[in-house]
Amino acid sequence: MPRISLVNLIHNRLDTLLHNGDTVIDATAGNGNDTCFLAEKIAPDGRVYGFDIQDQALEKTRSALVHRHLAAYAVLINASHADMKQWIHSSHVGQIKAVLFNLGYLPGGDKSVITTSESTLAALAVSLELISTDGIVSILAYPGHAGGSQETGRVREGCLNLDKARYSMEIIYSDEQNPQAPVLFWITARAQD
Ligand SMILES: C[S@@+](CC[C@H](N)C(=O)[O-])C[C@H]1O[C@@H](n2cnc3c(N)ncnc32)[C@H](O)[C@@H]1O
Repeated sequence: MPRISLVNLIHNRLDTLLHNGDTVIDATAGNGNDTCFLAEKIAPDGRVYGFDIQDQALEKTRSALVHRHLAAYAVLINASHADMKQWIHSSHVGQIKAVLFNLGYLPGGDKSVITTSESTLAALAVSLELISTDGIVSILAYPGHAGGSQETGRVREGCLNLDKARYSMEIIYSDEQNPQAPVLFWITARAQD
């Protein structure tokens, strides 16, 4: 079976879900590819909050946005995604359409700076407070790097323990035969009565 590009799959899904005016979060801005994709979808009336703990990542994201004339639609924040709620405007709490996590290290950067199970799980819990009644959380995990397998396992456990009355959850493997291959956790809020 061919390996699936999970980044393409995420972007295809978001393509139909997101519209001008939506508010979204890129919880791991990195090189800015996802932030730019999100900004294009929600512009000109929406906003992307982009988080990263590395200046280098935020600079790359800023210059990618500037290059594509999208800087006006994004706010970049040097803070852990675990603390994201304190940076989100109160009017956006409960209104966020999508929170994206692309875990691991900054491609082309310092491979010792990686996302950790603790902050990722804390950020997942906060994300569920922030999303709208039809919002989604997408977590792309990489079991192949040092620490990645443990983090992927903890995320899987966290996702499997979600309240099924409130959230539906899918696990999508890029290559089911390969335990090192990327895995996507896709959580959708269920509308409540
Ligand atoms: C795989 S990269 C993200 C790629 C990015 N989405 C893109 O499109 O280029 C992972 C990023 O997560 C960042 N990161 C690690 N721990 C973090 C944390 N606690 N909060 C926010 N970002 C974090 C790293 O600095 C790195 O830039």
